[in-house]
This record gives sequence, C-alpha cells and structure tokens, in this order.
Amino acid sequence: MRRKKIVFAMTAALLLYGTAALAEQPSVALGMQLFNNPGLGASQNAISCTTCHPDGKGMEKAASNANLTEMINQCIAGPLKGEPLSAESVAMQSLELYLNSLAK
Ligand code: HEC
Repeated sequence: MRRKKIVFAMTAALLLYGTAALAEQPSVALGMQLFNNPGLGASQNAISCTTCHPDGKGMEKAASNANLTEMINQCIAGPLKGEPLSAESVAMQSLELYLNSLAK
C-alpha cells in the first residue's frame, strides 16, 4: 500500500504546484493565477497582486508602460517581499500577458 501513498502524494503535489511548475508556455491563464494567488511573495505572507490591484482594476493602461517588467518586479520585491522574476521567465511573461489582456 506504500505505493498508493506515494502516488497520492505525487498527485497532491502536482495539483498544488503543477499548473505553475509544469506550464512551459506563458499564458494569460497562468498570469491570472499568479496575480490572484499568494506565491510570488515571501511564504509567510498571504499577499498577492490582487490584494492591492483587485481583479486588475485600474491596470488597463499598465500594459503600455515601458517599464512594465520593472514595475511588476518592484511590487514583487516590495510589498510581496518576494524574489524578482527574470524578464524571460514563464511567470513574468504570463503576468505581462494577463496585464495585456486587461488593456482597453
Ligand atoms: C501592497 C500593495 C501592492 C501589491 C501587493 C502589488 N502592488 Fe503593484 N502597485 C502598487 C502601487 C501603490 C503602485 C503604484 C500606483 C499605481 O500605479 O497603482 C503599483 C503599480 C503597479 C504597476 C504599474 C501600474 C501602471 O499603470 O503602470 C504594475 C504593472 C503593478 N503594480 C503590478 C503588480 C503585480 C503584477 C503585483 C503582484 C506580483 C503587484 N503589483 C502587487 C501596490 C501594490
């Protein structure tokens, strides 16, 4: 029965981390998920982007910001106390795709 436990643990881990970890392609859906869930910040805080930018409201012009990557990283390193993301990372590209999708 040990094997079942291992399979269960692996499935649970995949469900918890899978969507973010396994996604190789940046996507709006992943960006939305990262935006709305704590995880980019320090593990002891429960803050996410949506805490201060509820559902991305007011960010309709953010995508046209020439410093979008830096702005996102400032918010990650500042209030979220997280690790800044590289511009090429799937997470950063997904966040940018999500913010692009909000542009009016
Ligand atoms: C503790 C509050 C807080 C959190 C959490 C936060 N931000 Fe911000 N953010 C701000 C403030 C304040 C500004 C500057 C004022 C503004 O433009 O709304 C800002 C500005 C921005 C801008 C520039 C907006 C523009 O119009 O150019 C972007 C992009 C942004 N944040 C993205 C994010 C993302 C992505 C996250 C999550 C990783 C995040 N923020 C988390 C407070 C926060």
